[in-house]
Amino acid sequence: MMRALFHDGPAGTAMTDERAQGPRVGPVSRAIGERPPFGPMERLAHDALVAEQAATLRSSRRRASLSARALFWTMDALYGTERSLEKFRVLELVARVPYQAWENVAYVAVTHTARQTGFARRVFDTVRTARFEQDNEQWHLLILEELTAGQARPWIRTRIVPQLLAFFYYQLSWLLFAVRPAWSYRLNADFEDHAEHEYALLVEENPAWAEQRYEGQFTVDFGDFDSLADLFRQICYDERLHKEESELLITRARFA
Ligand SMILES: [Fe+2]
Ligand SMILES: [Fe+2]
Repeated sequence: MMRALFHDGPAGTAMTDERAQGPRVGPVSRAIGERPPFGPMERLAHDALVAEQAATLRSSRRRASLSARALFWTMDALYGTERSLEKFRVLELVARVPYQAWENVAYVAVTHTARQTGFARRVFDTVRTARFEQDNEQWHLLILEELTAGQARPWIRTRIVPQLLAFFYYQLSWLLFAVRPAWSYRLNADFEDHAEHEYALLVEENPAWAEQRYEGQFTVDFGDFDSLADLFRQICYDERLHKEESELLITRARFA
């Protein structure tokens, strides 16, 4: 149903379509043109990626809040304690939603505070950061979708349940952020800390990935990596930066 909302025909049909239905690319799309989308949070080379993975493995985990632990427990119960790509796919589907919630609340705040231009401008920085973080998590999700595409997927457990998890996590993140942003940032820092450590362990558990190239369809959007191991090390490092951003924001006053 959602596909019907977005045209996704092959580029080669554009000329025929333009003659038949008018231009397919509007002035905004044309102005955006070939601007690259936002990819990794901070792209690292191989040696730095290896060093950062080791740093994650040496570091201790955050003491997770009750709500974060409930979420991890639910995911273990539904998808097992083993680190499988399918479980990471679900994790990434859920991981994006706090950033969507923050963008939404902050944009509403811009509407209400536009007369205080300096303040509204600072609120917009929250919108902007949340967008970049959301885009970054989106590539993680699409790469995981791509890598698990051939696997058998029971409809309810792998499609419906993850979307329900994402829905409830969005509502929780939105509510916490609207009431007290620090609470939402804390929950997200717990979630990102969990993701960071789990990815570092995933790479460690799969030494063969060091020899396997990633040649998926997102190399242009997210980067070309020497190996599948480096691709996951980069995702692991992205999760660390998401965590550190949220940890910093826990201590900041609301939209200060
Ligand atoms: Fe992620
Ligand atoms: Fe994340």
